[in-house]
Amino acid sequence: MHTGEFEVLLGTEEIQAKVKELGEAISRDYAGKELLVVGVLKGAFIFMADLVREIKGVRVTMDFMDVSSYGLSTLSSGEVRIMKDLECSIEGLNVLLVEDIIDTGLTLAYIKESLMRRGPKEVKICSFLDKPSRRRSEVAADYIGYSIPDEFVVGYGLDYAEKYRNYPMVCILDPSANHK
Ligand code: IMP
Ligand code: MG
Repeated sequence: MHTGEFEVLLGTEEIQAKVKELGEAISRDYAGKELLVVGVLKGAFIFMADLVREIKGVRVTMDFMDVSSYGLSTLSSGEVRIMKDLECSIEGLNVLLVEDIIDTGLTLAYIKESLMRRGPKEVKICSFLDKPSRRRSEVAADYIGYSIPDEFVVGYGLDYAEKYRNYPMVCILDPSANHK
């Protein structure tokens, strides 16, 4: 489907089905346990809101981190700065890091490393999208929604210049269009 500037990559039903599937897998893996779900702002907030409601039979608590990469280029420099850190200690906890997309993997590698130094029981990663062709770090996700080709996507939390996060679908941004 083409909407002019956007090509829909994942529709709302596909998204919903995948989030449910991920929630079920996480519920199985952490049944009867405690889990701290950590969302990486801002991109992960919509996915995380849907995901945590599909996690059942697990004592879930939530926190958020906000990081920014140095430089404004879409190509991550790999240098990441923590803009907002967790509110509590994660010592001895099962942590699930939730991201919107893994591109080069440098952001998550940095965050995971930072969390591992705080003595958690474990840190696992759940990313809604994955662009494996662009990976520049060894970080591996434990739960992945969809692997997608190397295209710039927006919607379902993902932005282009802070726009389009509220779009309920995941769309490929047409680079030739004039995005107002
Ligand atoms: P990484 O460090 O290269 O893995 O960067 C991951 C971050 O870059 C994600 O959390 C997004 O904020 C952003 N990003 C990467 N690819 C896209 C995209 O296609 N659309 C929107 N944001 C993206
Ligand atoms: Mg992000």
